[in-house]
Amino acid sequence: MKVLLIGSGGREHALAWKIAQSPKLTALYAAPGNPGIAEEATIVAIDVDNQQAVVDFCRRTAIDFVIVGPEAPLVAGLADTLRAAGIAVFGPSAAAAQLEGSKGFTKDLCAKYGIPTGAYKRFTEAEAAKAYVREQGAPIVIKADGLAAGKGVTVAMTLDEALAAVDECFAGAFGPAGAEVVVEAYLDGEEASFFCLCDGKNALPLASAQDHKRVGDGDTGPNTGGMGAYSPAPVMTAEMVERTMKEIIEPTMRGMAESGYPFTGVYFAGLMITQNGPELIEYNVRFGDPECQVLMMRMKSDLLPLLYAAATGTLGEMSVDWRDEAALTVVIASRGYPGAYEKNTPITALPGESATTKVFHAGTAMKDDQLVATGGRVLNVTGMGKSVSEAKDAAYAALRGVSWENGFYRHDIGWRAVARETA
Ligand code: AMP
Ligand code: GLY
Repeated sequence: MKVLLIGSGGREHALAWKIAQSPKLTALYAAPGNPGIAEEATIVAIDVDNQQAVVDFCRRTAIDFVIVGPEAPLVAGLADTLRAAGIAVFGPSAAAAQLEGSKGFTKDLCAKYGIPTGAYKRFTEAEAAKAYVREQGAPIVIKADGLAAGKGVTVAMTLDEALAAVDECFAGAFGPAGAEVVVEAYLDGEEASFFCLCDGKNALPLASAQDHKRVGDGDTGPNTGGMGAYSPAPVMTAEMVERTMKEIIEPTMRGMAESGYPFTGVYFAGLMITQNGPELIEYNVRFGDPECQVLMMRMKSDLLPLLYAAATGTLGEMSVDWRDEAALTVVIASRGYPGAYEKNTPITALPGESATTKVFHAGTAMKDDQLVATGGRVLNVTGMGKSVSEAKDAAYAALRGVSWENGFYRHDIGWRAVARETA
């Protein structure tokens, strides 16, 4: 099978690394790619925002299957364009990608299909939203409706903070994404990410992970795209997985199909495990980054046929095997991230690979034969072990082999699971 992978982050490096191991693969291409992905795939210079250019490349190169990593091209309809051209593609249609693209859409689906989630209301003007916030009181959660690069959510512990967040959204802080605001009840519990493949009518649960969104040790400071992750998430017991499938994933799959938007691809459910069980915080319609990196380390099965089955409606015949080990990844980011940071700073050494560690590239590039950092999140140093503690030790030991002066990382990735293991 000839495959084109779309994307350029650590997630796509992990996917490329795993797909490259498939006996079914005959050639792997990637765009835009990065230097890590270039070790596994042929990088092609196509503009991935130009959907016709992607179709033309696929025809010219006889690509059998396209795998889309990030959400933006899905929300823009790349999967629709490819399918219309008769090319198999992993990833939902633009209509089904509204599950991630519009929080209001997802909330309405939850209401209609009885999917547990925080009570909410949608607003298009500030005064009504603020009146509702005053009526509900704090803590309360304010969300810009559209895609805001993970920054459109304020978990307000006080009324003043909540009212300020409403004003900020309507004042245009998140651009068009904030033209509509969702006000949502605060959910108390432990968060987990849950991943599940879907072909429109069959769902195949993958695995769970936990992410660290805050930039600083002790889960402090501003939110980021994720500073590290581990899998499995101890809070996702077999019982919680079964309940999540029954109470959240299956009704979503049915709801999407009945609404005329059958979902194919991967459901990334952001969950809060509350006293009442799993409740949905949000859906993403692609693998998590860096959650994908730890999932790929743990997956024993061949990934390529699983993704192809999700794309072609044959997931019902598939199963998936996992290693018993835990995996943990630490993100090294450019100093200043998630704010402004310097670009093109040199990375002069990376650790050698071992059976239990792997460095995935995110925002890196080659400039004049020198590896440089070009993004906010730059490297994902990943380790495996019999426990999360062992995986953590492996990852942090490998991290000492990185020489990059402008990089920083959190020192406590996995702390919740480690505390459980050592209790
Ligand atoms: P989201 O972009 O929807 O994933 O939200 C970002 C983060 O805000 C989540 O990962 C949670 O930590 C937090 N969050 C979102 N919604 C809620 C909620 N209803 N209750 C508590 N925390 C929330
Ligand atoms: N790590 C969170 C995300 O991919 O959205």
